[in-house]
Amino acid sequence: MSLIQALPHLNAVLNAVAATFLAAGFYFIRRGEILRHRKMMITAAVISAIFLVSYLAHRANAPIFEFRGQGAVRPLYYGLLISHVALSVAIVPLVALTLWRALASRFDRHRRIARWTWPAWMYVSISGIFVYLMLYQMYPS
Ligand code: HEM
Repeated sequence: MSLIQALPHLNAVLNAVAATFLAAGFYFIRRGEILRHRKMMITAAVISAIFLVSYLAHRANAPIFEFRGQGAVRPLYYGLLISHVALSVAIVPLVALTLWRALASRFDRHRRIARWTWPAWMYVSISGIFVYLMLYQMYPS
């Protein structure tokens, strides 16, 4: 397996790790542990940035895989894929703004936008894992 062929598997792992840090960050802020929340969210952002580079490297060097599933699973897959792609574009500025507001200590405004950023980011990470499982593991070409 070449490095390029290995990237989708690495990307799925990065998505799973990012989702874990997002969950931990949420858990810590609910307990009022700001420093731990900060560490978890910054780590999630770094992992998602590595994911983005790896994803773009794969897209630039590999053909687009066609989904092989037939029947009712097709609309399910494409619905998941379209919502995943649309939200993944939207969260890039959203994550940057949420981080910016936190790092500038504007926590009231941070909280307001974070209530949208967190679930959208979590959805993108988890739906990315499902897209990977359906495309490469359940219905491989
Ligand atoms: C993009 C990364 C981040 C996301 C998605 C995020 C998400 C969240 C969420 C979901 C909440 C709870 C909102 C609620 O009350 O329902 C929150 C609160 C908070 N976050 Fe973050 N966070 C991020 C980065 C950071 C960073 C880097 C810090 C730095 C210290 C931070 C500090 C805080 C603080 C202090 C609160 C409590 C605000 C308040 O209740 O007034 N966050 N964040």
